[in-house]
Amino acid sequence: MLILGIESSCDETAAAVAEDGRCVLSSVVASQVDAHRVYGGVVPEIASRMHVEAVSGVVREALRQAGTDLERVGAIAVTHAPGLVGALLVGISFAKGLAFALGKPLVPVHHLRAHVAANYLSHADLEPPFLCLIVSGGHTQLVDVTSYTSFRVVGRTRDDAAGECLDKTARALGLPYPGGVHLDKTGQGGDSGAFAFPRPKLTGQGEDCYDFSFSGLKTAALLQIKKQPLNTQVNTQAAGQAGWIPDFAASFQYAVADYLCGNAIKAARALGRDKLALAGGVCANSVLRGELRSRCRAAGLALYSPELAYCGDNAAMVAAQGYYEYRAGHAAGLDLNAAPSLSME
Ligand code: KG4
Ligand code: ZN
Repeated sequence: MLILGIESSCDETAAAVAEDGRCVLSSVVASQVDAHRVYGGVVPEIASRMHVEAVSGVVREALRQAGTDLERVGAIAVTHAPGLVGALLVGISFAKGLAFALGKPLVPVHHLRAHVAANYLSHADLEPPFLCLIVSGGHTQLVDVTSYTSFRVVGRTRDDAAGECLDKTARALGLPYPGGVHLDKTGQGGDSGAFAFPRPKLTGQGEDCYDFSFSGLKTAALLQIKKQPLNTQVNTQAAGQAGWIPDFAASFQYAVADYLCGNAIKAARALGRDKLALAGGVCANSVLRGELRSRCRAAGLALYSPELAYCGDNAAMVAAQGYYEYRAGHAAGLDLNAAPSLSME
C-alpha cells in the first residue's frame, strides 16, 4: 500500500511516498533553516507562512519523484502532534483537503512515533519490541516500543532536551545555527578528554529511573566557555577558529553521548530488551553514534539507527508510521486538529 506522508511540525516542509511502511519511493524536504538562521532559532510565524508557500509544490514533487499520482495512493498520513501549532495546521489542512477531495483515509501521525519509524526504512528486519532512545531538538525520551503502535515512555528529560543543550552550547561558542550540526563538525579531530564535565545526578534517582537532566550540563559548558582565552570573541565567527574550541566541542559531545548511552543501556538491560534503536535529529551526531555502537557491542545489544537522510525531520518516516497506524485502524475525521504537546503513548 502506498502512503503519502506530509510533515510540517517545525521548520521543514516535507512530503514522501513510501510502500508498506518500509520502502521509500520519494522523500522531498524543503528546509527553512536559511530563513531562521538570522534569528538564531525558529520563528513560528515565519515557519507557518513558509509551509503555506511550500506545501503544494513539495507534495507534487514527492508524487513526481515516486512516479505515481494521488489516485494510486492508499492513504494520506500527516503529522498532527507535537510541534508548533500554526506549522502543524498547514500540513493538517492540506492533508484534509486531499483526503476529502480523493475520498481517501486521513491518518494522523505523532511526530515522535514517526522518528521511531525512521528505523523501519533502514532496517527491514527490525520489528518491535525494542527500546528506542529519541533525541531531537525538543525531546529526549527513552521509549519501550512494544508494538508498531504502542509505546511506553520509561525515561524523559526533566528540563532541556539534548538537542537544545547542544544547540545552546554551540551558540555560546559562536557557531552558526543550527548548532548541533556545527558542533559535530567542529569537534572532528578534537580531544574528547581535554575538558571535564559533570554527569547529571537526579535527586531521588534510583536504579529503576531512566530520566535525564541537561540543564546542569549546559550551565557547566557555558561557565567553562566564559573562562577560556579569547572569550571576548565568543559569539563571533572568529571564536570558531580558536585553538581550544575543537577540543571543547569534542569533550562536550562526549559528555552528552556518554550520559545518553549510560541511561539507555541501563534501561535496555533492566527491561530485558536485546535491541536498542536511535531516533531524532541528534541521532545524526557522529560522537553519539560511535559511542553507542561500541557500548552496545560490549553490552551484547543489537543497535539500530536510521540512515542520515531520515534522522532529521522528513516525511518518509511519517509515511512509514502512517502505514502502521492505518493498519491499526487509526484513521481520523475531517475534524482532526493539531495537538502541540500530545504524549506519544
Ligand atoms: O528531529 P529534529 O530534526 O527536529 C525536532 O523534532 O526537534 O532535531 C533537530 C535537532 C537540533 O537540535 C539539531 O541541532 C540537532 O537535531 N542535530 C544534531 C546533528 N544534526 C542535527 N545535533 C548534533 N549533531 C548532529 N550531527
Ligand atoms: Zn523531529
